[in-house]
Amino acid sequence: MKHPSEHSVIFKGLGAYLPKNKLTNNELAQMVNTSDEWIRTRTGIVTRHIAQTEEKTSDMCTEAARLALKNAGLQPSDIDLIIVATVTSDKIFPSTATIVQKNLGLGPVPAFDLEAACSGFLYAIDVALSMMVRSATYKNVLVIGGEKLSTIVDWTDRSTCVLFGDAAGAAVLSKVNEARVGIIESVLGADGSNAELLHVPTGGIAMPTSNDVNKPFIKMNGKEVFKHAVRVMEKVARDVLSQTGIDIKDIDCVIPHQANQRIIESLVEHLKLSPEKVFINLSKVGNTSAASIPLALFDAIQEGRIKRGNWVLLVAFGAGLTWASTLIKWH
Ligand code: ACO
Repeated sequence: MKHPSEHSVIFKGLGAYLPKNKLTNNELAQMVNTSDEWIRTRTGIVTRHIAQTEEKTSDMCTEAARLALKNAGLQPSDIDLIIVATVTSDKIFPSTATIVQKNLGLGPVPAFDLEAACSGFLYAIDVALSMMVRSATYKNVLVIGGEKLSTIVDWTDRSTCVLFGDAAGAAVLSKVNEARVGIIESVLGADGSNAELLHVPTGGIAMPTSNDVNKPFIKMNGKEVFKHAVRVMEKVARDVLSQTGIDIKDIDCVIPHQANQRIIESLVEHLKLSPEKVFINLSKVGNTSAASIPLALFDAIQEGRIKRGNWVLLVAFGAGLTWASTLIKWH
């Protein structure tokens, strides 16, 4: 991605939303045959947030977006485009983005959803960036990752139900008249031949749900996903760095998709990263798919882990399989 030299796209404001209800490992141990010790040591997760029955993905996205707008110092009328990354949209159609558009009172701007599972937020950032670079129309863009994964988790399957949580994270991207700040590079990839390692086989038009038959639940080959995750995240991180000539040693903060502590530790080892440069909030929230990276980015900023001028590397993998990495010079 080559920017016109006179301007850049920065993260102007971030927002996050977590449902009030928490579900601890000990509570899960009363639902399925598992233990706090197993979940902590195999995943690093301690607790996750679960939305209320009536709380929809669009509601969580709306709250995260409100905070991102506030932190950006912008009004809903300033937004020129809205993209929502999700695998748990409120309805098959219309898009969750149009529902959030209405909730926020945005103008009649383009609004659409994007589905790339846990890489969804970084895919949406890349699409927003491309549109902002190409067209003068898009000056302030709302990019949201939101999921109500609790609705597609099989709460009797201990191998998956311990992993996921509900949340939303949002960013306002804005154009600034300054060269080489903000989003410097973005790389995306996918491999559809491995789609069945992690999928929801039912509930779509290929195998619709009827009453209690074919409930749409996450099915996963955890061991294979684990291996692919480390391999593709290492590769896409190296690709984004080599395209910009930035050395991994120059990176101040790495925010990986928060799926599993051991996947992150393995990535740290493969990339020879200093562990203190890697931000992890997984223990409190679990895997929140498209919300994972904006939520972690929000927390990292809150905790003062990212400062102006820092090099920040975002890296994700997800179902598809998909993967993505974004390099940012924080502004
Ligand atoms: N509690 C207790 N035992 C369990 C649990 C549990 N919650 N889950 C599985 N086990 C058991 C298994 O049944 C198995 O028992 P067995 O040996 O008697 O057959 C044993 O633990 C080992 O199971 P494995 O699957 O080999 O465990 P592993 O160490 O691979 O850990 C895990 C499983 C945590 C799922 C791991 O494979 C993983 O994290 N994979 C990646 C998952 C992931 O990141 N998914 C999402 C990515 S993409 C996205 O975010 C949408």
